[in-house]
Amino acid sequence: MEIRTIAWVNNKIRIIDQTKLPQGIKYLDIKDLKTLWIAIKELKVRGAPVLGAAAALGSFVGIRYSRAASFNRFMQELEKVAKYIGSSRPTARNLFWGLERVKKIALDNKGKPIRIIKSMILKEAQAIIQDDRVSCRKIGSYGARLVKDADVILTICNAGILATIDYGTALGVIYRAHQQRKNIKVYACETRPLLQGARLTTWELQKRGLDVTLICDSMAATLMRSGKIDKVITGADRIAANGDSANKIGTYNLAVLSRYHKIPFYVAAPASSFDLSIKSGQGITIEERDPREITELFFKKPIAVSGVKVFNPAFDVTDQGLISAFITDKGIIKPPYKKNIQKTFSK
Ligand code: MRU
Repeated sequence: MEIRTIAWVNNKIRIIDQTKLPQGIKYLDIKDLKTLWIAIKELKVRGAPVLGAAAALGSFVGIRYSRAASFNRFMQELEKVAKYIGSSRPTARNLFWGLERVKKIALDNKGKPIRIIKSMILKEAQAIIQDDRVSCRKIGSYGARLVKDADVILTICNAGILATIDYGTALGVIYRAHQQRKNIKVYACETRPLLQGARLTTWELQKRGLDVTLICDSMAATLMRSGKIDKVITGADRIAANGDSANKIGTYNLAVLSRYHKIPFYVAAPASSFDLSIKSGQGITIEERDPREITELFFKKPIAVSGVKVFNPAFDVTDQGLISAFITDKGIIKPPYKKNIQKTFSK
């Protein structure tokens, strides 16, 4: 069964509502900006690469009925839409990259009629979707070279089909290796507080026929000590110029544990997750989310004492020194990262 996380269907943004998984696939058709903003905020649509596509399609939805009589007025409206979408979640570089890509298309076509610019914005958003499908497959192919037959791979959060258009980054590597008939086993961290690993990663790996075992996040060290893990592969939300990488909270823990247990730790991500304007992880804004995500189990029923103080960062930053290599759509990047990231993306 082919799964498309996001698509433009009947003049609406169609997403899979990821908060309804794994109970079943429910599609949500979005035709206005506010509904999209809420869908991003509430993780109905989530994962860095897919947020790039959502932001670009959202830009079109936001300006499609614009009556701006001049290009400058139109750009002001587009900027306003971009600012609004950008206020939904701060960490994933791809979301802002998606907004920048459509703004650039508008600017590059300044002389054209506004109705044409609008249609070019939609085309660009659709190109972002197509580009992601290609780059994830490249990441998969490059990454699969690092995977041996019978490898046992640990991952966190969901960096798969549901975080991209239809393939995945970290899970794309696993899918490609599996396709090459390598016998892979996967351990998925449940990924508290919102359980993307338990709800999403196990769901899609099972659907694809992979051997997956779910663990609580706190079990990773014990597994590693027992010698059961050969590699850790994670996704990324934003990678600084020096290689420091923000990803789902708990990723840094895994990187530290991997170093201690001498297990390779790989970060798989497309070029659109790299932010060369930020020198190091210190410059990455980490989203802090609603305390109820911790005090109430997935907003269903309270699991913590009423009124308890909560710290709920959605992401953490893994120091570049803990990363064995980056698996990107431009190839594998090895240390020294500052030099090699620059070299890779300035080509
Ligand atoms: O809060 P989420 O579910 O959007 O967090 C997603 C992650 O941390 C992913 O690992 C990351 O975006 C990479 S997805 C290919």
